[in-house]
Amino acid sequence: RIVLSHYYVKNVPSVTMSIGALASLTAYWLVTRPRPMHPPCDLNAQSIAVQGEPNWRRSALLKDDALLEFYYDDTRTAYDMFQRGLRVAGNGPCLGFRKPGEPYQWISYTEVAEQAQVLGSGLLGKGCQPNPEQFIGIFAQNRPEWIISELACYTFSMAVVPLYDTLGEEAMVHILNLGKPPKPQDLAVVCFTSGTTGIGSFFIRQEDVSISYLPLAHMFERMIQVVSMFCHGARVGFYQGDISLLMDDIKTLKPTFFPVVPRLLNRIYDKILGSVTSPLRRAVLHYAVRRKQAELSSGVVRNNSLWDRLVFNRIQANLGGNLRFILTASAPISPTVLSFLRATLGCLIFEGYGQTECTAGCTFSMPGDWSAGHVGAPLPCAMVKLVDIPDMNYYAKNGEGEICIRGHSVFRGYLKDEEKTAEALDSDGWLHSGDVGQWLLNGTLRIIDRKKHIFKLSQGEYIAPERIENVYMRCVPVLQVFVHGDSLKSHLIGIVVPDPEVFNDWVKERGIIGSYKELCQHPDVKKAVLEDMTAIGKEAGLKSFEQVKDLHLHPEMFSVSNGLLTPTLKSRRVDIRRVFQEQITNMYRIKLKRYP
Ligand SMILES: *[C@@H]1O[C@H](CO)[C@@H](O)[C@H](O)[C@H]1NC(C)=O
Ligand SMILES: *[C@@H]1O[C@H](CO)[C@@H](O)[C@H](O)[C@H]1NC(C)=O
Repeated sequence: RIVLSHYYVKNVPSVTMSIGALASLTAYWLVTRPRPMHPPCDLNAQSIAVQGEPNWRRSALLKDDALLEFYYDDTRTAYDMFQRGLRVAGNGPCLGFRKPGEPYQWISYTEVAEQAQVLGSGLLGKGCQPNPEQFIGIFAQNRPEWIISELACYTFSMAVVPLYDTLGEEAMVHILNLGKPPKPQDLAVVCFTSGTTGIGSFFIRQEDVSISYLPLAHMFERMIQVVSMFCHGARVGFYQGDISLLMDDIKTLKPTFFPVVPRLLNRIYDKILGSVTSPLRRAVLHYAVRRKQAELSSGVVRNNSLWDRLVFNRIQANLGGNLRFILTASAPISPTVLSFLRATLGCLIFEGYGQTECTAGCTFSMPGDWSAGHVGAPLPCAMVKLVDIPDMNYYAKNGEGEICIRGHSVFRGYLKDEEKTAEALDSDGWLHSGDVGQWLLNGTLRIIDRKKHIFKLSQGEYIAPERIENVYMRCVPVLQVFVHGDSLKSHLIGIVVPDPEVFNDWVKERGIIGSYKELCQHPDVKKAVLEDMTAIGKEAGLKSFEQVKDLHLHPEMFSVSNGLLTPTLKSRRVDIRRVFQEQITNMYRIKLKRYP
């Protein structure tokens, strides 16, 4: 309120209510008056029970239990989707790239289609066969040639095998020599069908611009480009290939759509909070956030309120000043961060949940529902069912259980691996996700746990390490973390890979300098990281026995190539434990010495 009067005093010197001032205030209110978004369904009933079973649900956007197979009748494959974009946009811009310090240059839809045709014909000339058994590897950073090569393959019905450098040289040589990819989940699915298109057509317009920097080898980024952007004739600008220049690329490109992973949103959140140091400005920021959050709860999302002008406009300008919406997926996002950013950025932020095996997405926030703490309702292309996990005391009759997915977007299986396929897909075609979900009363889904990886500490408390790791991921210096414990020990310990991008600066603020490797061995640095993790853990409600009591800082990332991550980038827990056996033993030994 203080700020409000300050604003008027500054801008309307004569506060006396002359008729003119009243009229201009009314006009200002009319122009900036908040309008709630009209939701596409009743937000209190976002999903519907299938066959009278409350734990088996489908989207409320469907007329009946028949799932949506494709959104446009003539658009059933990735190839069709690009062709649709070509019809819509023609000579309009499609793929953008830039050199350092220069504006973006654009390749049109027509040019992309021509180049793909030429490249595809060239591949046939080199002896490639025009059928889906023909695998073509693509090894590149995100750039126009990636998409042109992909389209070249689709044009002649060949399948794309994305190679990425975290696979490691050895694994890549192996794949290339085999001619059959040994990691079948990387095989491109030639036929995309998806409800994501439905969401896309709700929002994406030809004028939309998205920034591409998330790995194209992952389904999330591919779905965004093909299904959302190209299908609607919209454009995609590529980052320069250096993540530290991403913000500069964003300011230049001025995207309307920004796909993100929670880690990046956490960074933005920390940066905003870190940039207001004076107590007064901090109080104003929090007051403004609360005002905007009050609007959010009545469905209003906007960037033209007084608060946006006074408090948030610099923040919005840093992201290009054109954002209409953000999509976060791939890991859970904290409700605090999500609703803070919805208020400050003043754009629509959707959250999606899914995995590679169901073509990236299976649930999605319903437009108009800006509450946090859930992942939305099933997309129109899939059904979701919860299944009992007696060991963990989750029962479907209580609305809790393992999330299982069935529908057009679920994969057909791992290539030439019946055993793994049978583990993931049951005989009725349900994909077992390994995640534990809970149905909320309004038909949205909340992710509450992970199925495996649960153990007891010696005093009998149950520990779900992945949940704890997700909390610690919020710490600025932490890039990767592995939480360990077992039933013979009474406390947890952790292995942490510090984030090389920020670690040196973070440590320097605490008066310690050294190389990345040296810092990892410095006892005071370890202490500082542990303190930060404990504070974040406490804030997130971890109980004392859920906090790690010691840790080892490790200077090399867990990766697919060193065997510590799965191809879908989950920790290989058994292998991590084996590799760090010595450090783990030492950490427990030291504790025992100190507290005999
Ligand atoms: C505000 O939102 C509108 C539409 O959602 C968008 O066109 C505009 O660029 C946004 N402005 C800023 C500063 O983000
Ligand atoms: C849906 O239910 C959850 C849990 O009760 C709540 O947090 C959320 O605000 C609800 N959404 C809407 C739009 O009311």
